[in-house]
Amino acid sequence: MSTSVIGAPITRIDGSLKVTGAARYAVDHPMDDVAFGVPVPSTVGNARIVRIDTSVAKRMPGVLTIITHENSDQLFRPASQLEQNSRAGEVRPPFEDDKVYYYGQYVALVVANTFEQAQDAASKIKVDYDSHPNVVEIGDAAPPQGPPRIHYTRGDADEAFKSAPAKIDQTYVIPVETHNPMEMHATIAKWEGDKVILYESSQGVVNHQHVMSEMLGIPVDRVQVISPFIGSGFGGKLFPWPHSLMAAMAAKRVDRPVKVVVPRSLMFTTVGHRPLTQQHMRLGATQDGKLLSIQHDVVQPTSLVDTYVEQCTGVTTMLYSCANVAAKQTLVPMNIGTPTPMRGPGIVPGLFPLESAMDELAIQLNLDPLELRLKNYAEQDESFNPARPFSSKRLRECYQAGAEKFGWSKRTPQVGSMKRGDEILGWGMATATWHAGRGSATVRVRLNADGTARASCATQDIGTGTYTVFAQVVSEKTGIPVDKIEVVLGDTSLPDGPTSGGSTVTATVLPAVDAATQGAVDRVIAAARTLPSSPFKRVSAGDDPPALKMTGGRIHVVGEAPESGMPFQEVLVQKRLAALENESRTAPDPAQAHQYSAHSFGAQFIEVVWDPGIARIRVSRALTVIDAGKIINHRTGRNQILGAVVMGIGMAMFEETIYDSRNAKPLNNNFADYIVSTNADIPDLDCIFVEYPDLHLNEYGARGIGEIGLAGVASAVTMAVYHATGVRVRKLPVRIEDLLAGQRETA
Ligand code: MOS
Repeated sequence: MSTSVIGAPITRIDGSLKVTGAARYAVDHPMDDVAFGVPVPSTVGNARIVRIDTSVAKRMPGVLTIITHENSDQLFRPASQLEQNSRAGEVRPPFEDDKVYYYGQYVALVVANTFEQAQDAASKIKVDYDSHPNVVEIGDAAPPQGPPRIHYTRGDADEAFKSAPAKIDQTYVIPVETHNPMEMHATIAKWEGDKVILYESSQGVVNHQHVMSEMLGIPVDRVQVISPFIGSGFGGKLFPWPHSLMAAMAAKRVDRPVKVVVPRSLMFTTVGHRPLTQQHMRLGATQDGKLLSIQHDVVQPTSLVDTYVEQCTGVTTMLYSCANVAAKQTLVPMNIGTPTPMRGPGIVPGLFPLESAMDELAIQLNLDPLELRLKNYAEQDESFNPARPFSSKRLRECYQAGAEKFGWSKRTPQVGSMKRGDEILGWGMATATWHAGRGSATVRVRLNADGTARASCATQDIGTGTYTVFAQVVSEKTGIPVDKIEVVLGDTSLPDGPTSGGSTVTATVLPAVDAATQGAVDRVIAAARTLPSSPFKRVSAGDDPPALKMTGGRIHVVGEAPESGMPFQEVLVQKRLAALENESRTAPDPAQAHQYSAHSFGAQFIEVVWDPGIARIRVSRALTVIDAGKIINHRTGRNQILGAVVMGIGMAMFEETIYDSRNAKPLNNNFADYIVSTNADIPDLDCIFVEYPDLHLNEYGARGIGEIGLAGVASAVTMAVYHATGVRVRKLPVRIEDLLAGQRETA
C-alpha cells in the first residue's frame, strides 16, 4: 500500500488523454470568434527595412489587420529596461524598429478570419531591404570584444601544462542544434477587458506570466498563462518568444482572440537553438595519468539581440580532481536568432571536449579510459575554494555497475581489434553529470467527500511525468489510489510553481506536495475528532507524535490497524463538508545550499558497429547508469534517460543546423533535411539507476533526471567510433566523409 507507490513504475496518469487525443495542447483550446495570425519572416539576415508594401494583402478577403514596425502599437517595453529575474527568449519586442538582425525575424503579422486567408495575404506582402553582408560562420565574425563572459582559474594551469609529461591539445566543435519538439510553439491570446489570457506551449507558465506582465507594464494578476499539456520543449519553451507578444498585440488590436502558430521552418530561427561552440581543450598529465592541468577555452556565437552564454566550462572545473584549471568563454555576435538552453545546456556541449580529450589522453598513456577517470576521481567539488563536499556522489558505483553489465573488461584497446563476423565493434565510455537544484513551490491539496483527492500547482508537465509524480506523493501520504487523484497543472491561476527547467521540478515539488497533503490530512483528522460520535475521543488532540494518522484512505489510531478507523470521506460526509484543503509552500534551506555541492552523476557505455566494406557505422548498444538519488517513478524516470540517449545519438551522428552565408537562412529548416534519430537508428537501450537517496536535497532524496541522460553520450559515441575505425571525430556530427577519409589514409 502506502510507501510502495514511491518508486513504482506507475503509468502516466495523463497517458490516456494523450493517446486518445483528448489532451489539449496550446492551439487545441476551443475558442469562439478566434482570428488567425500568420507571421511574415525576413528573408535576409542583416538589413534595414526600406519599405513594406501591404497594399495588396490588406484588401484580400478576411484580412483584419497587418502589423508592421510602421504601425505597431508599441504595446511592450523593451525588455532591456526591465528589472527582472525572469527573462524573455529574445531581449527585443517584435516590430520595434526597421532593423533585421537574423533570417526569419518577424517583419509583419497578418491577422485574418481564417488561417488560409492570413497565409494567403502574408504571401502577398512585399518587403524591400537595404541588405548588408551576413555573418553566420564563426571564422567570419569579428573577434570577441571586451572581457570574457566567464573566466575561472585555480592554480596555474598554463605553467602546469608546459611542464606536463603528457599533453592533449585539441579543438572540438559542436554545431548549432535545433530543439525540434513535436508540438510547435504557439499562442492563443485573448483579452478580457484589461486582462490578457495566453494559451501557450510553455515550460514555465509563471515565468511567462511575469515576463509578459513586465513587458506589457500591467500587474501580474492581469496576465493568465495556461499550458496544461506540452508536446515537449527541450529548453526551447523556457521563455516567451516574440510570437507570444505578437499574439497579445494582435488580439488587442482586433479585439478578438488571436491564434499564432510558429511554422516548423521558423522553429529553426525565432525560438532559440543550442549555439555552436568551438572549444579548445588542453590537458596535461603525469605519465601514469594524473591530471596536472586543464585548460578550456570556448568561443560561442550569439545573436545581435541577446548575449546568451552557453556555460560549457562549469563542468570542467568540477568533474575531475586537478589542482590547475583555467576556463574562459567569449561571445561573438552573428546574424542568427538568439540561442537558448537546450537539454543539458552548457554541460552537454562542455562534456564533449572534456571527455573526448580524456579518451585521447588514455590512448596516449596506454591506459583504460575508465581507469583514467578513476585515477582523477573528484572526492570533493574542487571548483569551490575551499572545496565543498558533494551532497551525495555515487559515480564510482555507476562506473562499476556499467562496466559489469556492459562487459567492459572484455574490451581490447587496439583500434579495429574487436570483430564480429565482417564487422568491427567499437566501445566507448564517458562520464555524465548534471547539477541538482531545488527551488520553491506552493501546492494545494484537497481531499474530497467522494473519496477522491485533487492536487494543484502552477508548474507544468512537459512530458516528463510531473502529473504522475504529484499523484504518487498524494497517494503515498494518504493511501488514496493514484487513479482517484486529480492533478491540475499548467495554469497561473493555481498556486505558484516552478519552471520545468534544469531538471529541478521533481526535487522542488516533492516537499511541497508532501507538506500540502499532510496539512489536508491534519484537517481531516481534526474534523474526525469533533464528530458527535467520534471513535477517536479516547485519544487526545495535543499528542506529539500525533495519535491519529491516515493510512489506506482511513483515519485511525497510531499503532492500530487502519481497518479499525474510518474512511476519510466518511468524516467529511458526517461533517457535511464537500472537501477539506490545504496549501503549503516549501523552499530549500539556504544554509545547505552553501554547504554542499549537489550534482547527479552517471556513466555512458556505447557500442558501435562498423562495416568497413560498405563504410557503415551504427550505434548498436547503449547502456546508461545514473546516480540521481531516489527515483520516484521507475517508468517515467527510465523514459527520461532513454529519450535523452536517443537525443545523444542524434547529437553524435546526425544533428546540425546549417546556415547559408548568402542570406543567413538555415538551409535544413525542416524534418527532411535536419536529421534526428529515428527508430531505425536506435538499438536496444538500457538504463540502470544506482539508487542512493540524496537526503540533503529533500526528504525524498530525489534529484532531477530530465537532462543527465544526454550528458556524455556524444563523446562516448565518438570514442567508440575511434575504437572501431581509427578516426577521431572532433567536429560533430560524425560524417561518413570523416570515416571514408580515414579509410583512404589507412588503405
Ligand atoms: Mo531544460 S534546457 O532547463 O528545459
